[in-house]
Amino acid sequence: MRVPGDKSISHRALIVGALATGRTRITGLLEGEDILKTLDALRALGCPIGKTGAVWEVLGRGVGGLEEPAADLDFGNSGTGVRLMMGVIAGHDMAVRMMGDASLSRRPMGRVLKPLARMGLEVLDARGDTLPLRIRGSADLIPIEYQLPVASAQIKSAILIAGLHAAGETTVIEPAATRDHTERLLSYFGAQVAATKRQGLRAVSVKGDAELVGRDVAVPGDPSSAAFLAAAALMVPGSEVTIEGVLINPTRAGFYTTIRDMGADVSYANERNEGGEPVADICVRHGKLRGVRVPPERAPAMIDEYPVLACLAAYAAGETRMEGLAELKVKESDRLAATAAGLMANGVQATVDGDTLIVEGGRGVAGGGRVATHLDHRIAMAFLTLGLGADRPVTVDDAGMIATSFPAFRLLMEGLGAVFAEPEAATP
Ligand code: S3P
Repeated sequence: MRVPGDKSISHRALIVGALATGRTRITGLLEGEDILKTLDALRALGCPIGKTGAVWEVLGRGVGGLEEPAADLDFGNSGTGVRLMMGVIAGHDMAVRMMGDASLSRRPMGRVLKPLARMGLEVLDARGDTLPLRIRGSADLIPIEYQLPVASAQIKSAILIAGLHAAGETTVIEPAATRDHTERLLSYFGAQVAATKRQGLRAVSVKGDAELVGRDVAVPGDPSSAAFLAAAALMVPGSEVTIEGVLINPTRAGFYTTIRDMGADVSYANERNEGGEPVADICVRHGKLRGVRVPPERAPAMIDEYPVLACLAAYAAGETRMEGLAELKVKESDRLAATAAGLMANGVQATVDGDTLIVEGGRGVAGGGRVATHLDHRIAMAFLTLGLGADRPVTVDDAGMIATSFPAFRLLMEGLGAVFAEPEAATP
């Protein structure tokens, strides 16, 4: 199998391309709704983006070269899109109103606005912490040093992107290392980026007044999407699935470390470097799994994979304890609550204890439940995957959001033998 391009890298390739001078050519771009919202926002800011054959071309406007948009920018369901673009707007002397769907409008934005305000961004008429809100950037941003209160690649990236526009060096210190695609892409495009250790923590700095030059980017397969196919193989006896060309960057590979701990037969083949990122073909074979403890320090490297891991844990013998999941409460939905509720609805014992999720596996999965997805693509995909091994089919209330990150999910799962039905349409 092949999965679509990585979502995080796709957002960043478009954004960094727009801030470079000259042409950026992107292959393997994820054409999911989240990415198309970022693409539309960049076009509205005066950056031409087009597609020829399979190649997307961005005609970059240079750092600080974007124009005030004529209308509001709508980011749909995408936290990454809106938060990274706040870093872009921060460096331009323009006022922009940003909005999103019901899920995005519930998510905290203050975590990004606070450091950006220290750099010179003005929040004009925000009602507190959430969208919709209007912000004004500045052509004279001040470089800062900022210690992140939570491990978040989105906050880090927004600050580093704003830092490109500032006069001097901007530094972000992380409580735990988060995905580093922004750093990798920025230095690939010619920015001066350095990572050092400060009292054991990772500090990332970027030089301001940066000049970026357009480059070619090949986006690797998304390991977060591949996780559903890997989980499917592990749930259904007799399966063996190979997923080609998947990103195996260690800041993203926590799910694969965890399934190995559970006893899964998973191997990487053809390890290679593509466009500055490590990539491999991942082969997963069905076998018996055991429950494990997933330590809190692994959370940043698999933050989006907990719903599908919890579903997989239902098929593993014994208890799986996933610790340090506070950030799951502020994703596209409260994933801690939504995951536990979905498992319980399908006959699997699941408990939330503070920031810990505990799943009792190996007792069979009755299925037959209807899962509330709360506008969350990963809840929908995780529970449809759960259905593959369940006694009765698992139903999700809304599969529409899957298009934000993995439009081909159903097609690829059907290619593996999954059977989908439309329960509503079948009811007279
Ligand atoms: C992302 C970072 C993560 C992740 C999200 C994508 C990114 O969020 O959950 O799906 O592309 O930077 P946080 O950085 O808020 O943890």
